[in-house]
Parts: sequence; structure tokens; C-alpha cells
Amino acid sequence: MGLSVVILAAGQGTRMRSAVPKVLHKLADKPLLEHVISSAKSLGADDIHVVYGHGGDEVPTTLSHCDVDWIKQQEQLGTGHAVAQAIPHIPVGRQVLVLYGDVPLTTVDTLKNLIELGQRSGFGLLTISLEDSNGYGRIVRDESAVIRRIVEHKDATETERQIKEVNTGILVVAREKLALWLEQLDNNNSQGEYYLTDIIAMAVADGIKINSASPTTEHEVLGVNNKRQLAELERAYQLDAANKLMDAGVGLRDPARLDIRGNVNCGRDVSIDINVIFEGQVTIADNVNVGPNCLIINSRIDSGANILANTVIENAVIGRGCNVGPFARIRPETELAESSRIGNFVEIKKAKIGVGSKVNHLSYIGDSIVGKDVNIGAGTITCNYDGANKHLTEIGDGVFVGSDTQLVAPVKIGAGATIGAGSTITKEVDAGSLALSRSKQVSKSDWKRPQKNKD
Ligand code: UD1
Ligand code: CA
Repeated sequence: MGLSVVILAAGQGTRMRSAVPKVLHKLADKPLLEHVISSAKSLGADDIHVVYGHGGDEVPTTLSHCDVDWIKQQEQLGTGHAVAQAIPHIPVGRQVLVLYGDVPLTTVDTLKNLIELGQRSGFGLLTISLEDSNGYGRIVRDESAVIRRIVEHKDATETERQIKEVNTGILVVAREKLALWLEQLDNNNSQGEYYLTDIIAMAVADGIKINSASPTTEHEVLGVNNKRQLAELERAYQLDAANKLMDAGVGLRDPARLDIRGNVNCGRDVSIDINVIFEGQVTIADNVNVGPNCLIINSRIDSGANILANTVIENAVIGRGCNVGPFARIRPETELAESSRIGNFVEIKKAKIGVGSKVNHLSYIGDSIVGKDVNIGAGTITCNYDGANKHLTEIGDGVFVGSDTQLVAPVKIGAGATIGAGSTITKEVDAGSLALSRSKQVSKSDWKRPQKNKD
């Protein structure tokens, strides 16, 4: 049986107190709804239908890169009404899985279990027992523990409100049955809504046994209604990601102080200190150390590299055995070759730094190609921008650049050249030569310091 997924995402989310539609709020840098869509895709769903409404077209526009069927629910008349909007779009003969755009952390394993259950028995319902079941629909079972119906909190009696087992809202059922029951829904309840949950009693009346499954953790079925819940789920997500890294052998100084906003692949014997943030796709090879407070975005760190405290790296490649930081900023399109060293308060942008070369202190190297075994002295600046265009600086192998040098691009420094400290280099420097552009030092032996006036 093929699988269709319906994701309900039309609600307003008033308690987020935000102009952004609820399902577009981000967890680990990705909209809540996109997490749910990703899970549906991992399940191998044949088609995914997202029911949206509040926030108007902002939801489908923002997530236009997701290949799903967008269905507008003009008025939010209840969860049953919302699912009914999708029915005409779902091919006959499908199993239908209902998910929620604001419940981002349900695992694929949990959903697979539920789908299997639904396939075997005709109806799978995901439930969970909560210490505080306030606000949820309660699962009403008979003396033999068979599920009879769901009663919404607002419609429940005092006795029913004592029930700890609640409806997560996630369920699996065959399309034809679902369509039939949805047609029979009414809104005679305390909220005047078409409740999806009313189909449970209808299924029971039709002689179908409702089987339930439960998630491994509560976070899997928690929805986001306010910023506190969003933050709570963010921490749950991050801790889970940290645990997965540790299970794969990565050493984390403190799993509670790591944030992964994207994907990170780590080799063997990688160790990561506290307050590190990874964004986008980050690949880290064997034996890499990442110091505290580093931000690493869409980059590759090759084996044995040492990234020291407070370093920011974006869209860059850090070669084997490199040393970067502390306090270095590696900007996009930088490639550091093997064993090069970038020190404190150094900014590198769109530059290739050759094998074994060093830029150790207080420098800016941009739009440059630097050869191997080059030493760039403290405070060296490539003047790459003339106010209109960027220009290239080329530095040959074995060059020694004295401290406080300005290299006014476009400019070339030949291999083995030496540049005296404090120079402003505007013309090509020949290989092996010494270039200096500073004025001669003078000494005045008869000079006296000014004295303070006496009166
Ligand atoms: C629903 C369930 C309840 C369950 C709870 C779990 C019903 C009637 N109740 O209650 O049993 O314990 O979820 O969180 O189903 N939505 C739409 N269109 C609508 C109405 C809702 O897209 O017309 C979406 C909302 O955006 C939300 C989700 O469906 O993401 C749930 O709707 P909501 O009204 O919050 O249901 P609950 O009262 O939480
Ligand atoms: Ca609600």
C-alpha cells in the first residue's frame, strides 16, 4: 500500500507573539514545518500534502524548495476539516499518515512502527501517557483496555480528565475509510470545530480495532505553541544530536554546550570544546580539535587540524595539520594548505595559503594566492579594494614579508623575495630580491625634550 502524508499547518500560533506564521519559526535553523516534511520524505512517502492557511502564502513561498502539494484551508474549522481538504488530492488505495507542522521531532522509527501497525490492523494511533495531561484529548479505553474514543479536554468530564493517556494527533488509516468518516463529522462540541479525533469512535463503530503505539521520548510528540516550548525542543534536538556524535566516537567536553544547525560529519578522535556552533554542512576529519567558542559554517576541516578558541570559519577548507586561531576569522573561499598557520586577529578572505605558510598575527589577507613556506609578518595588509574593484595579490614560495607591510593590489611578489618591515609595496617585487619602501631613519643627538613651563 502506498503512503500519503498529510501535514496540518494552518493554525495561527497566537502565543508565539510574532508576525511570522508558527510553522516557519526555526529549530536548528530550519523551519518547524521543514523538519516534519523531511521526516515524511525519510519515510518514503509517495506524496506529501501540506494544509496551510494562517500566514497566507508566506508558508508555501518560504518553503517552495520543498517538493510537496500545498493545500489552502481558507478557514480553520478544526483538525477534521483540515484533513478533509487534503482527501481529494490523495490517490485511492493509500495509507494516510497525519502529521503536524508544529510537532517537529517525531522520529522516523516511531512513525515506521505506527505505519506498520496501521497496515496490520487498519488503524494506528500514536498516544502517550503524560504526568500532566491538561489540554490534550484523552484516550478513552474500555474495561479490556480497548480504545473506544477520544474526548477533547474541553469536552471531557472530571473523571475523563484524570486519564493520563493522551492523543498525540498522529495517526495512520486507509484513505477510503478516512474519507468516509470525515464526511460524517459534525461540529457539535464545546469548540464548534470539526474534530479529527471523532473518527476514532466512528472506526470503533465500524468494527475496526484501534491499535496504539508510543514514541520513545515525550519530545517526539510535543508541539510548539510559544517561544519557551520552541527553546525546550531546540535543546532536546541539540542534546540528541550531541549524543549521536558521541555514539559515533566524537569527544564533547559538554554535550549541553554544542549547537548543530545543519549537518556535521566527524572522523575518528575528534574533540570539540564548549560553545561550538556548526552551521550548514560541516565535515571534520580524524584527529581534529575544535577549541571553545568557535563558529564553523559550511566548511571542511582536514585531519589533525587544530582550531583554537574563538575562531570563525565560513565556506572554507582547512588543510591537514593546520593551526588556526585563537581569534582568527576565515572567510569564504579560503583554502589553507597542509600545515599552514593562521594566528590571532588575522582575517583571511578568498585566499589560498600554501603549504607550511604562516600568517600569525593581526593581518588581513584577501583575494590572494600565497605560495608555500611564506612568512607574513604581524600587521600585514593586502590592500585588495580600490573602492570599486577587488584585485589580486600573488606571493611566491618562500617569501618573507616584514611586519606592518601594505601590499597594494594588484601586485606580485616573486619567490624568495624579502620585504622590509613597514613597507608599502605597489610594484612587482622580483624573485629573491629585497624590497623596502620606508623612509630613512634619522637620529638627532642634540635634540632636547620640551620642558613643562615653570609658572
Ligand atoms: C489536537 C487534538 C487533541 C490532541 C492534540 C495534541 C483534535 C480535535 N484534537 O488538539 O486530541 O491531544 O492535538 O496536540 O484534533 N490545524 C489546522 N487547521 C485547523 C485546525 C488545526 O491546520 O482547522 C492544525 C493546527 O495548526 C495545529 C494542529 O492542527 O498544528 C492541531 O490543532 P489544534 O487546534 O491546536 O488542536 P489541539 O487543540 O491542540
Ligand atoms: Ca490547540
